[in-house]
Amino acid sequence: MAGPRARRSCFMPRSLSSATFVTSAAGPADFPGDGLPEVALAGRSNVGKSTLINALVREDIARTSATPGKTRLVNVYRITPADGSAFYLVDLPGYGFAGGGDKARHEFARLTDSYFASRALGDTRGMAGTRRAGAAKGRLAAVVLAIDARHPGMPADVEAGRWFQSLEVPFLLVATKVDKLAQSARARLKPACELAFGVAPLAVSALAGSGLDELWRRIREWTT
Ligand code: GTP
Ligand code: MG
Repeated sequence: MAGPRARRSCFMPRSLSSATFVTSAAGPADFPGDGLPEVALAGRSNVGKSTLINALVREDIARTSATPGKTRLVNVYRITPADGSAFYLVDLPGYGFAGGGDKARHEFARLTDSYFASRALGDTRGMAGTRRAGAAKGRLAAVVLAIDARHPGMPADVEAGRWFQSLEVPFLLVATKVDKLAQSARARLKPACELAFGVAPLAVSALAGSGLDELWRRIREWTT
């Protein structure tokens, strides 16, 4: 389904040279390795991660779907701002699409763990000499956790948030689909997130374009 791009005139331009799909990575060998900063985007399946990427860059580079579980691989996008250096947006597979529980968590965890394990958080990519000593490896600049603004504090999200906040990289909680919230629910969003995650969310709507300039600003801060 095409990303909502209709209202581009009502928010500030996020000026790009290019935004391109790089690869669907099934394992560490396919993750970026050129040392450009990476912003990882995680969250429950169907929360709107891929739609958010498309809205952010105003181009349909990420495949979206009304059916949960569309993004099962680690999809990597290379973004080059018009006025700065390139970085990667890394669209992680959504968790929870099989109805939650241990099995679904496990499936999400396998690929996601291998991604985080191979970034600049710990080990190098391979043990068998697949990397030259001193070679650049992935540089995780920040993690964005997307949650559905209508359901703040779901256990799997809280668990993911806790884990991401234990990493030594900036963390941002993004609440998606705020266009679906009534005014009263919108007012409850911030305190609910602070209670569940310990941080306030950045409220966004890919459909209405709200919050996207702020998200872009944060991403540029992390990647330049
Ligand atoms: P997986 O790939 O399964 O992990 O899902 P995803 O998180 O990438 O979700 P995706 O971007 O495919 O969007 C899921 C559904 O939510 C689609 O039907 C989108 O059109 C819808 N959606 C995404 N963002 C918004 C938004 O800001 N507002 C509204 N109303 N709908 C949205
Ligand atoms: Mg997706």
